[in-house]
Amino acid sequence: MSSDIMLEKGEMFYEGKAKQLFATADPDLIIAYFKDDATAFNAKKRGSIEGKGAVNNRVSELFFTLLEKAGIRTHFVRRLSEREMLCRRLEIIPVEVVVRNIVAGGMAKRLGRVEGEILRRPVVEWYYKSDALDDPLINDDHAEVFGWATAEELAVLRDLAHKINRVLRDFLDPRSIVLVDAKFEFGRHKGEILLGDEICPDTCRFWDKATGEKLDKDRFRRDLGKVEEAYHEILERVSR
Ligand code: TMP
Repeated sequence: MSSDIMLEKGEMFYEGKAKQLFATADPDLIIAYFKDDATAFNAKKRGSIEGKGAVNNRVSELFFTLLEKAGIRTHFVRRLSEREMLCRRLEIIPVEVVVRNIVAGGMAKRLGRVEGEILRRPVVEWYYKSDALDDPLINDDHAEVFGWATAEELAVLRDLAHKINRVLRDFLDPRSIVLVDAKFEFGRHKGEILLGDEICPDTCRFWDKATGEKLDKDRFRRDLGKVEEAYHEILERVSR
């Protein structure tokens, strides 16, 4: 079979808030299609950000390539088109991994801290991936006892989160972008843990280093305006 036939989009087996996932003839590979749909607060707020899918596909391609070069294994195979990415199929670990360098968003609210407080060291948090429960914050014991991830896997995830955070920060700093926080998802593939999902202004907080201006999905979440502009600004800076 030619590789082109292998890469035809098969059945859509999953539709999330920002992406659709399609099977291919190769059981190890899937195609992710990046939508313009935007949601916030577990889809209580809905909208669309024009061109977001194309920007997130490109930005994710760039970050995955950067991370692979730094020795971090990811699900990324290659970008297929403006909105499509070929990825390895993962058994998703239902633990969302958030790493924070600066207090913002959920942490500010939950712990009564001022947004913008610089953390003495990066903080890693786990959230249980469940739309029905609004992705609650969990600890290691919850993940282990309920079988979401083993203690060994959590140790690997923590290590990877710190390493990815360092690589991204080092890359973004000269581009005048501060990485405030980021959310990563991982999955199992042939006995390995790979970084999955996407890395983009939907899943990270990016602040301009000089002005503190928000260049991420908070512009949509908080109705700050200039949403499309922020996504394009990030693409422009990371493409340099
Ligand atoms: P939070 O401060 O709202 O918990 O968000 C922390 C980081 O995780 C931030 O960079 C945005 C990202 N994030 C997602 O990718 N998906 C989500 O559903 C939420 C709530 C946050």
